[in-house]
Amino acid sequence: MGARPRFESLPGWAQFLILRCAMPFLLVAAALIPELIVKRFFPYPFLFLFFGAVIASAWFGGMAAGLFAVVFSMLAVDYFFLPPVYSFSVNATAGSYLAAFVICAMVGSWVSSSKKKTEEALKDVRDELEHRVSDRTAALMKTQAELDHLSRVLSMGELTASIAHEIKQPLTAVVAHGHACVEWLSASPPNLERARQTAEKIIGEGTRAGAVLSRIRALFKKEIPLKDWLDINELVQEMITFLRQEALARHISIQTELAGGLPKVEADHVQLQQVLLNLMMNAMDAMAGTNDRRKELLLRSRRESANEILVQIEDCGIGLSPDTAGRIFEPFFTTKPQGIGMGLSISRSIIESHKGRLWATPRPAGGAIFQFAIPVHSQDTDADAD
Ligand SMILES: Nc1ncnc2c1ncn2[C@@H]1O[C@H](COP(=O)(O)OP(=O)(O)OP(=O)(O)O)[C@@H](O)[C@H]1O
Ligand SMILES: [Mg+2]
Repeated sequence: MGARPRFESLPGWAQFLILRCAMPFLLVAAALIPELIVKRFFPYPFLFLFFGAVIASAWFGGMAAGLFAVVFSMLAVDYFFLPPVYSFSVNATAGSYLAAFVICAMVGSWVSSSKKKTEEALKDVRDELEHRVSDRTAALMKTQAELDHLSRVLSMGELTASIAHEIKQPLTAVVAHGHACVEWLSASPPNLERARQTAEKIIGEGTRAGAVLSRIRALFKKEIPLKDWLDINELVQEMITFLRQEALARHISIQTELAGGLPKVEADHVQLQQVLLNLMMNAMDAMAGTNDRRKELLLRSRRESANEILVQIEDCGIGLSPDTAGRIFEPFFTTKPQGIGMGLSISRSIIESHKGRLWATPRPAGGAIFQFAIPVHSQDTDADAD
């Protein structure tokens, strides 16, 4: 392990001597010893081990080392194997044999050193490729992180846009009640009692708009929602009271199948009202274009499992077409001329912030079932006892 750094710290000339001269010399000497031993058993010179020494020298030391190995092998062959033996002089026949040996050795050296060069070039390319791949991977991961951040920022932007939608309904009600109030006051004689009731409704709607704003802002800033122990059935009844007039105006009957004895859930009151409002309004919108059947909105609640309460909003409306079903939870996806397309995405994010799930399925007899499951905490047992 430590030998290589020590070799590389040697001066250039020492490296040259060791790698280009000493190594080929030692390899040729190492080949010579067995050659001399086997010489006695072969009638012809057995020179193959010298080729091995030349090829190894060219492989480890490059072309120059290969050439030195060729020279050392040639001298050894000439001295020890070709007649007259133990002399560097050669006769004509031995000379041509030696020339053939040298040519073969040089070709071996060239092939070996160029193969090594190709391998080294390949290794360099591979290393560079690996380096670039790891650079690109790091860059991609950085981009991914930036994209994640961007998508978070964008979805926050979408939530900001949704605030307008979420307060649209109470504001519309404020304006409508405002007009009604003026009407009651301008009647002769003015109906002060009805005007007072309408003004109270205005205050109620205004307060609700304010509450909606602050809760959505809390969601947007990822603040923890204002959680309280809620009775889901009470919440459903509250929303039915709230939307009764609207349903009457649209000739829709609201039915309930609410399971008794459900444990309370820890949830943000206004946020869950928002979810139910969105889902019920959507269900009523979906039934607007269906005149061939009874318009019925069915609200169900039941204990889904030991840890979840399920709330279902079932309508007999137009239903979910296969091409829109996959997109309805996308922000700004709407099929309504006046729709913003934020109701479902906000509802889902509210339910998910309560660690629940919200999804939709087609109603077998036509229409759609939107449902959410909300977890029941261990304290519910205590809450039930209250
Ligand atoms: N009960 C339902 N039946 C059939 N399609 C529905 C139902 N609820 C939602 N959808 C489809 O999902 C789309 C998205 O609903 P979402 O509540 O997100 O937006 P919207 O109702 O179109 O607009 P708004 O932002 O005003 O609520 C609707 O436009 C409608 O096509
Ligand atoms: Mg909607």
